[in-house]
Amino acid sequence: MSADSKSSSAGAARVAPPTDAALAEAARIILSGGLVAMPTETVYGLAADATNPAAVAAIYAAKERPSFNPLICHVASMEMARGLAEFSPLAEQLAARFWPGPLTLVLPKTKTCPVADLATAGLDTVALRMPKNPTAIALIARVGRPLAAPSANPSERLSPTTAAHVAEGLGAKAGLILDGGACPAGVESSIVMVGAEQCFLLRPGALARAEIESVTGPLLAPDPAAGVVAPGMMRRHYAPRARVRIGAVNKAPGESFLGFGPPPEGVVADMNLSLRSDLVEAAANLFAMLRELDAKSAVIAIAPIPDDGLGEAINDRIKRAGAVFSKDSV
Ligand code: TXA
Ligand code: MG
Repeated sequence: MSADSKSSSAGAARVAPPTDAALAEAARIILSGGLVAMPTETVYGLAADATNPAAVAAIYAAKERPSFNPLICHVASMEMARGLAEFSPLAEQLAARFWPGPLTLVLPKTKTCPVADLATAGLDTVALRMPKNPTAIALIARVGRPLAAPSANPSERLSPTTAAHVAEGLGAKAGLILDGGACPAGVESSIVMVGAEQCFLLRPGALARAEIESVTGPLLAPDPAAGVVAPGMMRRHYAPRARVRIGAVNKAPGESFLGFGPPPEGVVADMNLSLRSDLVEAAANLFAMLRELDAKSAVIAIAPIPDDGLGEAINDRIKRAGAVFSKDSV
């Protein structure tokens, strides 16, 4: 971390475009146990050497995570991935079809898997993803080790989709922020646990369910009774500070209205996730718009959003945001 880094997130962040020199410095920071924020096609990640437990711990500290949820390990090649996890034929097929891309696979660890236990929260599985963003891939390849990287935001705050969001939330807690522009997907990766016979969708995300099911067949819901859960799927994970009113068809005094499609008659939307009702556009806008409305009003009323395609992930995030204040929600 830079010498002038402060414990407060207000410390000055260092932001750099992903030049060769910046990538070289980022790799050096990571190899010496530091943290680098990197762009991915989903959201910005706060990356550390996944094989270095102290570096992984630094991630939790920077995010002020209340518990050690397991983290996603990012890889640059199938060769690297196969050193970490056992790939069944179905897992191979999923990787061949969707990597690089916004799909995370939860797979059994290999016997020699070098990933720190802290990064897997002591589980015998590991979550792997090969991101599509060229800066992320270049950084992982330079480091030559898997990078553990949760979203680069303080715990329970909105996930960052620009370098400026990262700087605002984490400040100098990231040794360097590589600026790769706005993230095209805007929601996190879909997480699938690949079993022998069946696959579980642990987290809906940027890769739509139907796409995944075209390879896996019907995806099952996590089943806590069978020990299949995504430990990080806390109700409060995606919370803005404002109260959130979901499925809103009107706008009460003092509320901000976040539209999707043409707003209801008589309602002027403060912002619109997608005027043309495009779920992909809405996903890309979601966190940035919630963040902007969060700063200017105490209640965000959000228009209904259909549950198909990326709508499932968007609604999941919105429900989590809404869950915080569900007791006194308008
Ligand atoms: O798009 C993304 O996936 C972003 C970008 C930066 O790549 N990363 C991200 O990571 O969202 P994170 O650490 O915030 O999400 C980790 C999720 C949690 O829900 C966690 O419970 C789940 O992955 N997970 C990790 N390892 C797991 C495991 N072995 N078994 C079950 N769930 C696991
Ligand atoms: Mg997150």
